[in-house]
Amino acid sequence: KTLGLIFDLDGVIVDTAKFHFLAWKKAAEEVGFELTEELNEKLKGVSRVDSLNKILEWAGATVSQEKFDEMAANKNADYLTYVDKMTADDILPGVESFIREAKAKGYPIALGSASKNAPRILKHVGIFDLFDTIADGNSVTKAKPDPEVFQVAAKALNVPYAQCVVFEDSEAGVEAANNTNMLSIGLGSKDVLIEADHVFGSFTEITLEFIETQATTNT
Ligand code: G6P
Ligand code: MG
Repeated sequence: KTLGLIFDLDGVIVDTAKFHFLAWKKAAEEVGFELTEELNEKLKGVSRVDSLNKILEWAGATVSQEKFDEMAANKNADYLTYVDKMTADDILPGVESFIREAKAKGYPIALGSASKNAPRILKHVGIFDLFDTIADGNSVTKAKPDPEVFQVAAKALNVPYAQCVVFEDSEAGVEAANNTNMLSIGLGSKDVLIEADHVFGSFTEITLEFIETQATTNT
């Protein structure tokens, strides 16, 4: 039985989570709010518009639509100044070799990310061609924890949902995978990703054999 492997981007393939944090922190300061790392966990995997809505809610601030659009655009411009300095060295440890090994075994590979910048980032770090399909913020209308982005990826790979494995660093993303009966593999802290089927600190700790065994018991 084949397996569909679906990878989140930010915080799984590349360490852009820290750039999103810095850019949102700056945006939050504009409405007099100090964004902490702890609250930032709630923004991981969450779309740009939803993230700004959450920050404004935490800040107790209301802004005009015009100001909202301006804040979102500024945040993205800030974020892209970090992104455009990225190189292949910014790929997180172990993930590229894991994907290459899985590809060599014939498993189809998808990206499942909320980001509208996904193709730009993948091209920047030189691994765009590793993916059979890219489901991202441009392909969906419903944001994680809605599973739409993973379902779009699975359909493009032509693999049943229950035979898909999702690699995620965010609470919202793990929830999205669980919501559609995909095996959820968390990358990060067990204390944060409590809902994930398994949690690892990094891809250097994950073997393809382990994933194959777990995915078979999931179906
Ligand atoms: C990912 C990140 C989020 C980000 C979202 C949208 O899910 O984890 O922090 O807000 O993508 O990214 P974008 O690049 O489109 O602003
Ligand atoms: Mg992520």
